[in-house]
Amino acid sequence: MIRLRRAICEQLPQLKEACHALEVPAKKHQLQNARRPTLEWVLPSAVAQQERELLKAVQDHTFDGAYVERVNVVSSSGRSAAKVEFQLQPQAFVEQLLLAKQNPTDISTSPTEHIVVEFSSPNIAKPFHVGHLRSTIIGNVLANLHQYLGYRTTRLNYLGDWGTQFGLLALGVQLNNVTDQQMQESPIETLYASYVAANKAAEESPEIAQRARELFASLEAGTDANMAEQWQKYRKYTIEDLAKVYQRLGVQFDSYEWESQYSQKEIQQVLDRLRKAGLLLREQDGREVVEVDGRRIPVIKSDGSTLYLARDIAALLERLSRLQFTRHLYVVDNGQADHFNALFKTASALDERLNLGQLQHVKFGRIHGMSTRQGKAIFLKDVLDEARNIMREKRNLSATTRENQSLDDELVCDILGVSAVLVNVLKQRRQRDHEFSWQQALQVNGDTGIKLQYTHCRLHSLLDNFKEVQLEDIKPDWQHFAEEPTDALDLLYELARVDQSLWQSKQQLEACILVNYLFGLCNATSKALKRLPVKLESCRHKRSQRLLLFHAAKRTLQQGMQLLGLRPLDQM
Ligand code: ARG
Repeated sequence: MIRLRRAICEQLPQLKEACHALEVPAKKHQLQNARRPTLEWVLPSAVAQQERELLKAVQDHTFDGAYVERVNVVSSSGRSAAKVEFQLQPQAFVEQLLLAKQNPTDISTSPTEHIVVEFSSPNIAKPFHVGHLRSTIIGNVLANLHQYLGYRTTRLNYLGDWGTQFGLLALGVQLNNVTDQQMQESPIETLYASYVAANKAAEESPEIAQRARELFASLEAGTDANMAEQWQKYRKYTIEDLAKVYQRLGVQFDSYEWESQYSQKEIQQVLDRLRKAGLLLREQDGREVVEVDGRRIPVIKSDGSTLYLARDIAALLERLSRLQFTRHLYVVDNGQADHFNALFKTASALDERLNLGQLQHVKFGRIHGMSTRQGKAIFLKDVLDEARNIMREKRNLSATTRENQSLDDELVCDILGVSAVLVNVLKQRRQRDHEFSWQQALQVNGDTGIKLQYTHCRLHSLLDNFKEVQLEDIKPDWQHFAEEPTDALDLLYELARVDQSLWQSKQQLEACILVNYLFGLCNATSKALKRLPVKLESCRHKRSQRLLLFHAAKRTLQQGMQLLGLRPLDQM
């Protein structure tokens, strides 16, 4: 649809900026509207004078009849805003949507911005918890959307491997006599167990706590080569292990970055700059702090070791030099709002290349209740395995025989399980806290990942039955759709809404907009599949028009699912 929008907006200078604001209204309205496809532009509540001039300019203009049949201008009255309705030339409309060689989701913009999305960012040695899961899958969708819409995009995973608690961890590894083999086989569990053991020991003996502080100091000072080498190894094994989970989730990164990668020297340089700029204040106890919104936030401890914020400031400035981004998103839970506020305000006060508008904390709320049926879940892997197990049990119960399935059964169960978990998390507005329930996440008829997969499979199997039809040779025909039961138009209008939903999803950084769109698309598809048979239809023209429609539905659904990080199945 974007080409149609552009073709309209480029005709009048006043409309140039409005391209993405032209929307296909909800289908009910379309259907009442004498079954004519329209694009609606609800005016931003501008100053009355300007608004009147704009409306007049639109009214006086003769729009190219190849795209627009009629223009209705509705002035504002009472509470409702002024709007312009562009009644589209319907044949141009179906061709935009259904030409087989055209991708309905193609909204090809060419922005010049470079967006960095930092997401996932778990900590070494602490469990990859549900907060990290939410960051991972929301961050992935946001990065996918930007990339798809033509932005240059860089995906970063910033792993927490630094801070005094890592002295404890190093000690725990010694205490537990961890072997290299154990570490290699299950790094995440082994590191976690070491951390737990050391914590316990430190609670019992202050000497151990002291020893942990010293160990970390030597690590930070870089004086213990053996320890540094061990450290490298733990990290290597950990990311190898994480990579398996990321692969199941369909997530990729351009780069893994580490809290520890900023050496003392680099951090000291940043701290010196802060001091020179008068932004770093020394407290009586020796700590150094920054003052943000009247609150003092520590950057350096009294023993000189650096804190989370110091490393984040150094990392941000280094990324700016290295990547030259125009915007940087941090997908991290609500709980770190103060931290990011302090980071953004301090860094932008320090470096003139940065302004606040470029930096954004993409916050999200908590998920409760995501655990296995036995109530166990510290590691994300357990949750994904549980999803796969439930899917396997369900499939074993159903009597369907699956012939010629191209994928291994176990993989299908895994893909379905992951789809259920991902979609259940993504369908919520991100700031909301959310109660996870297996029962809800796995329904075929509810708004779930299983529904998306199921609809995709149905479309695939229909189109597969008509493989020999050359869809490229069929010309979409508006007249046909106008005469079909309204389910056909419903689905067409739904398809026409995809690019606005992608755009809004990106603008608001809300994956749920796209997810809800896909649910709507699936519902319209199911109705259409029921009311518009292909196999049983004897008229060839009707059959091929319907196939075109379902073909477009499949491509749109497939594209949307891929943007969510799902792997669309052909058979389940
Ligand atoms: N590793 C941190 C945690 O788990 C999240 C890191 C967020 N990103 C950042 N640049 N501070 O709490």
